[in-house]
Amino acid sequence: MKFFIDTANLEQIKEAQDLGVLDGVTTNPSLMAKEGITGEKNILDHYKAICEIVEGDVSAEVIATDYEGMIKQGEELAALNPQIVVKLPMIEAGVKACKYFSDKGIKTNVTLVFSVGQALLAAKAGASYVSPFLGRLDDISTDGLNLIDEIRTVYDNYGFGTEILAASVRNTMHVVNCAKLGSDVMTGPLSSIKGLLKHPLTDIGLEKFLADYAKGNA
Ligand code: E4P
Repeated sequence: MKFFIDTANLEQIKEAQDLGVLDGVTTNPSLMAKEGITGEKNILDHYKAICEIVEGDVSAEVIATDYEGMIKQGEELAALNPQIVVKLPMIEAGVKACKYFSDKGIKTNVTLVFSVGQALLAAKAGASYVSPFLGRLDDISTDGLNLIDEIRTVYDNYGFGTEILAASVRNTMHVVNCAKLGSDVMTGPLSSIKGLLKHPLTDIGLEKFLADYAKGNA
């Protein structure tokens, strides 16, 4: 399973990259705003800076909600760097724009997906990635992991090439369960990646090994 980090924070992106397990980055307008990145030029420059840190795919979201606007913005984003994946919302214009970009060989990520039907449409439109938001479903007492499972089944039934990018991942158990279900990618905060390191028996075991080594070499 590929690991993407879901942030626009350059320090956190560097930290995940330095760990050696990062396959890409996802951002959204809220994450950009959180870092204080505003204005078209600053946002485009920030995407370029992210692409310089990581080697993999970097999802950059359009703001337009009409077809023509999405095409214009998506083309500007894609021209920044071959790593850019044009992120499009799951609305009618987004599906049409997804088909347009996929026909042109430009990578796409269809976002804000909350149902199997939406995921099916994204795959039919040739999306490179589909982003079901599992954490936001969990937030409203709906099983987000079940959606990942159902999309996996449908995509496997027909051999769709669209990769399932489990989004709105909030914790390590989301990551582990997405891996069990065969999600192709997960995107989450740095804490959901680094949290996978932790086990008290690892710490206790290492402490004992080091103490025994010290005794033997005293
Ligand atoms: C996905 O691409 C989104 O950026 C993200 O995963 C949303 O996560 P949230 O529900 O924690 O805001």
